[in-house]
Amino acid sequence: ATGSDARDLVIIGGGVAGYVAAIKAGQEGMKVTCIEKRGTLGGTCLNVGCIPSKSLLNNSHLYHQILHDTKHRGIEVGDVKLNLKQLMKAKETSVEGLTKGIEFLFKKNGVEYLKGTGSFVDQHTVKVALNDGGETVVAGKNILIATGSEVTPFPGLEIDEKTIISSTGAIALQEVPKKLLVIGGGIIGLEMASVWSRLGSEVTVVEYLDQIGGPGMDTEIAKSIQKILKRQGINFKTGTKVLSGEKTGDGVDVQIESAKGGKQETLNADVVLVAIGRRPYTKGLGLENIGLELDERGRVIIDSQYRTKIPHIRCVGDVTFGPMLAHKAEEEAVAAIEYIKTGHGHVNYGCIPAVMYTAPEVAWVGQSEQDLKKAGVKYRVGTFPFSANSRAKTNLDSEGMVKMLADAETDRLLGIHIIGPNAGEMIAEGTLALEYGASSEDIARTCHAHPTLAEAFKEAAMATYSKAIHF
Ligand code: FAD
Ligand code: NAI
Repeated sequence: ATGSDARDLVIIGGGVAGYVAAIKAGQEGMKVTCIEKRGTLGGTCLNVGCIPSKSLLNNSHLYHQILHDTKHRGIEVGDVKLNLKQLMKAKETSVEGLTKGIEFLFKKNGVEYLKGTGSFVDQHTVKVALNDGGETVVAGKNILIATGSEVTPFPGLEIDEKTIISSTGAIALQEVPKKLLVIGGGIIGLEMASVWSRLGSEVTVVEYLDQIGGPGMDTEIAKSIQKILKRQGINFKTGTKVLSGEKTGDGVDVQIESAKGGKQETLNADVVLVAIGRRPYTKGLGLENIGLELDERGRVIIDSQYRTKIPHIRCVGDVTFGPMLAHKAEEEAVAAIEYIKTGHGHVNYGCIPAVMYTAPEVAWVGQSEQDLKKAGVKYRVGTFPFSANSRAKTNLDSEGMVKMLADAETDRLLGIHIIGPNAGEMIAEGTLALEYGASSEDIARTCHAHPTLAEAFKEAAMATYSKAIHF
């Protein structure tokens, strides 16, 4: 039972899921407490994920471009040097500014912030082991679990964040490894492979499946980006499994074999990045004290209103079902608060964009061609290459294409896939189109400014229902 001093909402975890829920709850006039053990807010995303990785991607791209992509533009540069320490500092400055910004937003919205580790005592009470020592207890009428995820370990390859690293080590290396081996060609693997390859590492990516990009990427797009990344100097071993690995005197030996079986091979690297996925994190949360069980993948089980089987305890973000993406966590956080406050909330899981921040970027929303084939849906495809887009050509940055998939009968858009400059921004238009149930013709008949990359988007839509003009 809760006393009169119980908070309206207690949130365990101050990552994107937890902090967004806290701010929204504060805005709704709820008395809210957010417990975070890291010492800073923003979780994986702001501290060791989205933000620091994008800082490194942006600045390593700039460095690489200055080295290799200026002369033919009429820009002669002199001695170009990498200052890795400063590159890391720039990253830290962005992270610090953003995490502090969340603290400010907490204050602005009246959110109480407890720095410590939360664990359930009973269904309404959370004990907090404070980072500064000591312990406190908070009671909540509602409790939100938002404890996120952690790296999935590779058996036998113990992560020391120096020679065998996770993404956390990969955003903080103090020198450029001569040889970097990446296990897992998903989004983390490819983003980090890009960063270190641009800074001078010889990078090999080993991927178990025949296709890179992780779950959800359209096969044609995956093949295309693999070719582009290969041209940039990244080596790929797809359809290959890593069997084991061991540290040697000056690096790591990794045994690999074709996924179908066959001859084994040993690869040597100075640094090995384990990027085979992430898993839900519920360690030390005391779920056993309230009788909450997890599914076979360690996820907290919830219903469509984010309720666990104890209805006033809800859960959002990486620690439960769905893609492990920051914007998905954010949508769920807002919806969960709306459910608590009004009984209604909404997240359209068919309409969550994904972006891989390589150069060019890869972005998609909705279904892939292989999804549609599997579901037996009849569809039409329209594509438009950036090599036929005036702005991309003007910018001398014209790799990639826009690909649209629309229902063969109704023309309703079912999936949009982009490789290209700024694909991550352009996918917002695709997401809006899908959310509003647009047809390809709706987009084709919408005026797009000239000369912009977005015209490639419009022309792909034209190609889906009729014909593109410029290709
Ligand atoms: P988290 O961000 O993991 O936050 C959970 C928080 O809970 C943590 O800070 C943890 O310390 C805290 N916590 C856990 N247990 C307790 C406890 N008992 N008491 C108190 N606190 C606790 N997604 C994107 O959409 N775009 C990207 O570009 C992107 N890039 C990424 C790059 C990398 C390298 C990685 C690793 C991930 C990336 N992601 C990206 C994924 C994104 O970071 C996650 O989807 C997002 O952080 C999930 O938010 P969350 O709040 O559910 O979990
Ligand atoms: P992932 O699930 O995207 O990719 C892991 C890859 O490793 C898969 O392609 C899988 O087939 C492969 N793999 C698994 N076991 C293997 C083995 N033994 N040998 C070789 N390959 C193996 O996971 P990843 O890249 O670690 O990312 C984790 C999460 O973080 C994802 O959910 C992702 O969405 C999120 N993230 C999102 C980013 C973004 O939105 N830009 C950036 C980085 C991470």
